[in-house]
Amino acid sequence: MRVLQFGKCGQLALALAAARTDQTNYKVLGSADADFRDPDAPAQAVRDYKPDIVLIAAAYTDVDGAEADRAGAFAVNAAAPEAIAQAVNASGGALIHVSTDYVFDGRKTGGYLETDATHPINIYGESKLAGEQGVLKAAPRSVVIRTSWVYSENGKNFVKTMLRVGAERDELHIVDDQIGRPTSATELAITVWTAADAIAAGRAHWGVHHFSGGGAAASWADFADAVFEFQQAKTGKRPAVIRIGSNDYLRPAQRPKNSLLDCGLIKEAYGIKLKPWREALVETMARLEVSAGSSG
Ligand SMILES: NC(=O)c1ccc[n+]([C@@H]2O[C@H](COP(=O)([O-])OP(=O)(O)OC[C@H]3O[C@@H](n4cnc5c(N)ncnc54)[C@H](OP(=O)(O)O)[C@@H]3O)[C@@H](O)[C@H]2O)c1
Repeated sequence: MRVLQFGKCGQLALALAAARTDQTNYKVLGSADADFRDPDAPAQAVRDYKPDIVLIAAAYTDVDGAEADRAGAFAVNAAAPEAIAQAVNASGGALIHVSTDYVFDGRKTGGYLETDATHPINIYGESKLAGEQGVLKAAPRSVVIRTSWVYSENGKNFVKTMLRVGAERDELHIVDDQIGRPTSATELAITVWTAADAIAAGRAHWGVHHFSGGGAAASWADFADAVFEFQQAKTGKRPAVIRIGSNDYLRPAQRPKNSLLDCGLIKEAYGIKLKPWREALVETMARLEVSAGSSG
């Protein structure tokens, strides 16, 4: 299986590379190699490498920044994935593209199904939805995986921010009225490779699929509490979590109140098992400790 991956240093990109056992016939391109702001750059890379499967782990992920940069968000999240999909379709390959729960407005009670109506409430979500639609139209042999609340030992994310800020303060005010399920980039990467292997084996199930961590629904405050429980067990110290509403923490982009994704379809179609998010968090925090130890 010849694989071309877009995204090199991002959370998912690094997790994909780490989870890949066979490094042959596997090419990874970062933004310096194929900048999505010029959609023809990644499309040309597809035409040059002629992969069986393309993985798009690259995206414009600055949710607040996108509010002031609609053109940038749409170039990277919509135009480039569609151009890649056109090139993939022309070459007879397949595509796995990653999207977000932010395509929904969060007004539903319970987990979102793939068939639920989309209605993004911020520009990032609009651009990601346009990307999904462009991909699926241009390349019917595509799998779109929508995920939520991604974190990892690498890059910028909620877990690392909590650990950094939590070490400096006695209490933190964290939003408690947005719920979801955190997703480990490692678990997401394993899911992407499972889908890629199934496609290569002729067991593809095309279209949109939802994937997140398993276990109970959580608010951002619950997520922070779980991070600090781990920290306390290791260091004996932790900050207090003061639970606040979204209205007390206004940001440029509005966030959905409900980010829960129903992951039944991907479990059935690709045999994916959802690791409870607290278990995956402990594993990521252990990797974070190892990398902190090795750099210090
Ligand atoms: N983070 C979340 O909480 C979250 C939630 C739901 C869905 N998602 C989706 O999950 C996927 C992976 O996200 P992530 O958290 O791994 O993102 P991330 O850590 O922010 O990494 C972004 C990736 O996109 C690449 N990139 C950014 N601008 C680019 C450009 N102009 N041209 C080419 N590549 C560019 C970066 O390139 P380099 O490799 O060169 O740095 C990097 O690999 C994305 O589709 C995202 O929308 C993320």
